[in-house]
Amino acid sequence: MFKKVSESKGKTITIYFEGQPLEVEEGMTVAAAVLGPSHGWTRTSHGGQKRGPYCQMGVCHECLMTIDGVPNQQACLTAVVEGMQVFRQNGVPDFHKENSHE
Ligand code: FES
Repeated sequence: MFKKVSESKGKTITIYFEGQPLEVEEGMTVAAAVLGPSHGWTRTSHGGQKRGPYCQMGVCHECLMTIDGVPNQQACLTAVVEGMQVFRQNGVPDFHKENSHE
């Protein structure tokens, strides 16, 4: 299991995970912030299996979540921001959807 390597000296902010407020440390990634409350899963696969952040460095894409209404965001590469709305992503992501407004 993960544990902190040092105590935070930073500011605490509020994000919302699945609509529930979550106090987190400013500067941490979304993947790290939701690790506990998500019970390790942040999306489901095409077959409905629970999946969660794995590599924590932007390679595996197992951490895809919907962040502030934008699907397919890599939670391990996204820093938390005050008031951020974070939701699990269900099923196969549509990689073209996020660019459909262009
Ligand atoms: S955890 Fe692997 S890309 Fe985010």
